[in-house]
Order: sequence, then structure tokens, then C-alpha cells
Amino acid sequence: MTTPLTLGNLTFDNNLIQGPLAGISCAPFRRLTWQHSKPAFSCTEMISCKTLLHHPLATQKRFTTKALDEGPVCFQLSGADSRELGQATRISTQLGADLIDLNCGCPVNKIRKKGAGSSLLLQPDNLYQLIRAMKDNTHVPVSIKIRVQGFGPDRFHDELIKAINASGLDYLIVHGRHWTEHYETTCHYEDIRFFVEHLNLPVIGNGDIADVASLQTMLATGCAGVMIGRAGVGQPWLIGQLKALLAAETFHTPSQYAIGSMFMEHVSELSALLGSEKFALLQARKIAKYYSRRIPARLEFCAQMNNCEKLEHFETLVRFFFN
Ligand SMILES: Cc1cc2nc3c(=O)[nH]c(=O)nc-3n(C[C@H](O)[C@H](O)[C@H](O)COP(=O)(O)O)c2cc1C
Repeated sequence: MTTPLTLGNLTFDNNLIQGPLAGISCAPFRRLTWQHSKPAFSCTEMISCKTLLHHPLATQKRFTTKALDEGPVCFQLSGADSRELGQATRISTQLGADLIDLNCGCPVNKIRKKGAGSSLLLQPDNLYQLIRAMKDNTHVPVSIKIRVQGFGPDRFHDELIKAINASGLDYLIVHGRHWTEHYETTCHYEDIRFFVEHLNLPVIGNGDIADVASLQTMLATGCAGVMIGRAGVGQPWLIGQLKALLAAETFHTPSQYAIGSMFMEHVSELSALLGSEKFALLQARKIAKYYSRRIPARLEFCAQMNNCEKLEHFETLVRFFFN
């Protein structure tokens, strides 16, 4: 059975969360996840504070649209300046964020060079100020999503614990890898347990969850909830399936035809949201490998997707391959 999850002033009836994925976590993706799984909540992809503050909202629909029928949403912000983060927190709250998270795990150089993402873990004083700026500008629960020490050279855990404990953070999300580690390195569950044992707030564990066995390994760290990233892409029913299996209920995986229909819904909703068939199809190419996990001619489908420039052609391909 999944258990209820209380984060700040919100209580959810289960403790499974769909995590943030840049280029993927748009409103249609989250809506499908809600329809098929009812997670505790889903996250937006990372949104730069500067973009939120300085670009017209109309150009940011991909990041900021929260659909009426998609369930609770956590807005994930990226930045390193507390004044900007405070303002971005206020805007996110006005846009309907149910929770707000600060990205402290992004390993990408472009982000780290700005002092944001995972480089924030080496600046506990600034991190404290950033969390305070979020807390002072919203009534919704506030979190940070971090990486762990892993086998890297920096020892940031102790300093982090002090900063977090003093800051009033509502909960912590921990991806169990160091920022230098790639997905080939397995998740460091012991580091997640370290945070569970040293903080008096809920810890959400993240990394490599794809089935009941991996979910149970993560729950054994004592974490209050679990965040699922890649495995939720192309499988909007996965969290619902995990909930059912934990409750010892039978679950029928959708047919290939139904999965194809979900993929078409995802892409046509994105096209309508952005008013751009072209952009939606570029996204479709990126996520084709996830939706086509189970189809035998996966490689052929993905190759043909790369030449697909019209929604009509996309639908013909899906109907042909997902049968
Ligand atoms: C394509 C992709 C995009 C991602 N984008 C973000 C992001 O915007 N913000 C973030 O905190 N993590 C991001 N992540 C990391 C995931 O949220 C998650 O922490 C990581 O994939 C581990 O979880 P998993 O093994 O369940 O996928 C991204 C990961 C991938 C593969």
C-alpha cells in the first residue's frame, strides 16, 4: 500500500510523485499522468527565474501552463539569486503552483557556470538565503531537489544539513547520485538514508525506480515518498500500476493500441497548447523512444519519426507501429 504524504500544509493520499524532466514535463504529459495514475503530484520541468521574470508569459506556455484537469503541480525553479528567486516564487504561486521546488541537482555546465543547479550544493549560506526567499514569498510547501555526495570529492552533506535545518524548508528531494555521475552508476540509497536520518522533515527519494522491486528498495531507506523520473515517460499509467501492485490489486497494462493513443494525445495537446505543430513534433521525436519501449519495431519507428513533419504523418506512423 502507498501511504499518505504530508508536505508542509498539504496532505496527499499517496506518496508517489512524477518528477521534473526538461523537455518532457509539459502540461499534456502531466495531465496524462494524472488521468492514468493520480500521483501525489507532478512537476514542471526546470524554469529559469530570469526567464520567468523577464520574458512575456505568453512565450512560456510550455513551462507555466497548468491545465484544469491535471492534479497538483510542483513548479521547479532554477536560479542562484535570492531576490530573483523570491519574485519567481511569487509569480509561480500566482500561476497556480501547488508546491515550489528549487533545482539544486542539474549537472549541466551552462547552469553550473551561473552558480545554479548542483553548484548550489557547495554554497550552503547562499542556499539558506535562497530557501528563505522562497519561504518568504509563498504559502505553498517549498522544497529543494539535490544530488548526493556519492564518490565525489566534495563533502557537502554536513553543511547542507545545517543550512536546511535552519531554513524552514518543508521537505527535501534527493536524487541518489553525485552530479558527476551518469545513469550507469546506480543510485546511492545509503546517501538517501543519511538525509532521512539527519533531517526532521520528509525526504523524497529519487533514482532508478521502474517497478515494485526498485520502489521497495527506495522505500526501505525510510523516505516519506518516492519520485519517479524517466520510467514515467511513455508510461503514464506506471504510478497507478505501482499503487495497484503495492495494494495487491491486479493491474492490466494498456494495449499497444492504447499506448499509441496516449502518445497521440500527448503530442496533439502539446501542438494545441503551443500553437506549433512543428515544435510538438520535435518533442515527439525525443520521447518516441519512451512510448515505443514495448513495440517490436521500436528502432524502425524511431527512425521514421525523425523524418516526420506533419501531425497527420505522425498519426499514420503510430497507427501502423502500435498495433
Ligand atoms: C531528459 C531528462 C531531463 C531532466 N530534467 C530535469 C529537470 O528539469 N529538473 C530536475 O530536477 N531533474 C531533471 N532530471 C533528473 C530527473 O528528475 C531525475 O532526478 C533523474 O532522472 C533520476 O530519476 P529516474 O532514475 O527515476 O529517472 C532530468 C532527467 C532526464 C533524463
